[in-house]
Amino acid sequence: MNKKTLQDLPDSALQGKRVLVRVDYNVPMDGGRVTDDTRIRATLPTLQYLIDHGARVVLMSHLGRPKGQWNEKYTLRAAAERLGELVKAPVSFVADIVGDKARAAVDALAPGSVVVLENVRFLATEETNDPKLSEEMASLGDVYVNDAFGSAHRAHASTAGVAEAMKREGRPAVAGMLMQKELDYLGGALESPARPFVAILGGAKISGKLDVIENLLPKVDRLLVGGAMANTFFRALGLGTGLSLVEEDRVDMAREVLKRAGDKLVLPVDGVVAPEASADAHSAILDRDKVPAEGRILDIGPKTVATFSEILMGAKTIVWNGPMGMFEIEAFARGTIDLARAVAEATDRGATTIIGGGDTVAAIEEASVANRMSHVSTGGGASLEFLEGKTLPGVALLDAKGA
Ligand code: 3PG
Repeated sequence: MNKKTLQDLPDSALQGKRVLVRVDYNVPMDGGRVTDDTRIRATLPTLQYLIDHGARVVLMSHLGRPKGQWNEKYTLRAAAERLGELVKAPVSFVADIVGDKARAAVDALAPGSVVVLENVRFLATEETNDPKLSEEMASLGDVYVNDAFGSAHRAHASTAGVAEAMKREGRPAVAGMLMQKELDYLGGALESPARPFVAILGGAKISGKLDVIENLLPKVDRLLVGGAMANTFFRALGLGTGLSLVEEDRVDMAREVLKRAGDKLVLPVDGVVAPEASADAHSAILDRDKVPAEGRILDIGPKTVATFSEILMGAKTIVWNGPMGMFEIEAFARGTIDLARAVAEATDRGATTIIGGGDTVAAIEEASVANRMSHVSTGGGASLEFLEGKTLPGVALLDAKGA
């Protein structure tokens, strides 16, 4: 990674200094409690490093989409409490973001302790990347650390504007350890993968994945496609897809991609087909050219799992984004679960395996293999935009190495 990181800073830049850290604590909540603390745990290496170096740590995050309004449902209080249970340091919470209360809480911070500010999206000017808000945020820190990979695709005040404001003041703006790890894994796979490099793409819509396909095709050795997005490719091949989800307006594009990709792109050969996407629907495993007019393809079938698995066993780098079927319904989860196990086995055999965030993470957790992957990204939208080859604003504005 060509960006300066926390560990590039001298100890003197941290000891007793106010370090403003953007984290992504946009975590699932239920009844005022954090139900999945993965994203909080993922920031612990950065926070422990700062605590051990005697920094006064100020955390900023968003939670949900409160649209610029104060809303108790989206307070970060519970996330701060959870952090307090996980980190070996005093953690306080302040119900303010910038302004007098926030400033007083930051001023009162002892070295080696942490304060969590309230949800930055309670301010409408966060999402407009307002320069005044960015300046106010920047005034709370001597150093800015962005550890919020999950939000790095957003050009907001706390992810982008604040880094610029820090730079204008001649203060450092660097990547945290989670950010660094995410970029090293994802960037390493795209720039210098051990080969064969195999990507697996799934999910409902081809339209949301076309940019990823374009960016990955020249880089990968094999591109395995599953999920409902494969249906649009089937249509492009002239196969009957029954009632399956097909994006008619993308069929020509799919045809063009198939032509260009040749045998690099591997499509399912069979599927689990049912008249409707419901748990009690009668389903059958059918070859892809046998889908009846009243059928819907809702998962990949066992022959496809076998074909994909064989390719995966020979791979040295695997990137996976998107489920192979409607895995939230048990009857159509098998393909995704079996593939998750195959990716885990490939890891055991020495492949570097990288799981894009969101649904794919839920799928590998469902298959109980998350801890067998080399890297599970904490970013859904962010990892997708990275795979599309886009510049992430939350990264672009950080100090360059050697600067
Ligand atoms: C995520 O969960 O993908 C990130 O926290 C970004 O959230 P957003 O899509 O509301 O910006």
